[in-house]
Amino acid sequence: MDTKHLHKRREELMRIMGDGVAIVPTAQVCARNRDVYFPFRADSDFYYLTAFPEPEALAVFVPERTEGQFLLFCRDKDPERELWDGPRTGPEGARAIYGADEAYPISMADRIIPALLENRRKIFYSMGRHTGLDARTIGWLNEVRSHARAGVAAPAQIVDLDHILHELRLIKHPEEIKLMRQAARISAGAHRRAMRACRPGMHEYELEAELLYEFKKQGSEFPAYSPIVGGGRNTCILHYIENRAVLKDGDLVLIDAAAELDGYAADITRTFPVNGRFSGPQRELYEVVLAAQCAAIDTVRPGNHWNDPHDRAVRILTEGLVSLGLLKGPVEDLIASGAYRRFYMHRTGHWLGLDVHDVGDYKVDGNWRMLEAGMTLTVEPGLYVHEGEDVDPRFWNTGIRIEDDILVTQSGCEILSANAPKTIDDIEQVMRSHRPARECSARRA
Ligand code: GLY
Ligand code: MN
Ligand code: MN
Repeated sequence: MDTKHLHKRREELMRIMGDGVAIVPTAQVCARNRDVYFPFRADSDFYYLTAFPEPEALAVFVPERTEGQFLLFCRDKDPERELWDGPRTGPEGARAIYGADEAYPISMADRIIPALLENRRKIFYSMGRHTGLDARTIGWLNEVRSHARAGVAAPAQIVDLDHILHELRLIKHPEEIKLMRQAARISAGAHRRAMRACRPGMHEYELEAELLYEFKKQGSEFPAYSPIVGGGRNTCILHYIENRAVLKDGDLVLIDAAAELDGYAADITRTFPVNGRFSGPQRELYEVVLAAQCAAIDTVRPGNHWNDPHDRAVRILTEGLVSLGLLKGPVEDLIASGAYRRFYMHRTGHWLGLDVHDVGDYKVDGNWRMLEAGMTLTVEPGLYVHEGEDVDPRFWNTGIRIEDDILVTQSGCEILSANAPKTIDDIEQVMRSHRPARECSARRA
């Protein structure tokens, strides 16, 4: 495995750390029910620095340590367990494949880590995120303290690692952007597939199956999050993941689903008519959301700030709500009072990366953060019209969201998810196009 780019990330982190030791664990395996476990997914911080995919692992970074600065603790080789669960990398593999300077069985962590903390000023550790390890870290610190009479100095501070590491993760490197492009391309393909497959009378989960098939078929390891496939009134439930209802002729279906690829998430939402043709009111509402989304994306460029896409989307959505008669009054007042929130109750995006809601501060010194080349974010305005006596019934139970993944470039932005059809014409055209006969007959069989 080429670990040059990982080496660079670790160097960057250690340069900022100075005289400290960083302790970075991976995630824990979670039980789903008796003898069944959720598929393991490494902790994003740990993976960013190591690419090590196995559970029960811990990285320690010790800048300027002559014997080695990157230490990896992992599961030892165990022929009997490997017979059941498959091969383990083991410490030797951790050095050879993942570029660890030193590697040990995880069972040796308590013996080795206290010595690494001696005469260092700080421990960098994300307290409160890894149950069990918090207490062990304090235990390691106390062990160093107990050697004070031998002239050993113990670290005087425990510093939250999140802040410095997450600032690094916020600006994506070329190899990360490549994976994000691929994750978005796979996800856009899955949205196309779902559009082509959609027919009145299908269940929401059948569209979910189309998405998951395409993700896996294209090499994605996991969905980046639980897919949302909601038809009719379910389009208005923001976190709907039940996906059990029947899709009805004349309704819209909202799909928020995307793949993860080698740890990197895409995050795409499309909304389309179950029968392949937008009705009049659906069209009117859709055009408002689309205009808001395109205008919001237009504001994504270096020098603008994080909140510009949101401000832009809110203005266009509110103008649209007024022109459709869903809100009444001057647009400025409706924005200032937050009246638009009845129909648009979430924000316009978030950072995207190893985590679908990725890390990085949105404000710096109390001000919205300036956008910089290499940042990746979503732009995802929507409108959600519930039933209500004061609401035009033509729009009842209509939820629309359009979400794309955007890379900030030197000169503006790149839409990573551009292959997912978005205009009314494009969606209707894709939905008219036939799937291969083989798939059609398999479905009907
Ligand atoms: N799919 C999660 C989100 O859009 O934020
Ligand atoms: Mn999102
Ligand atoms: Mn989403």
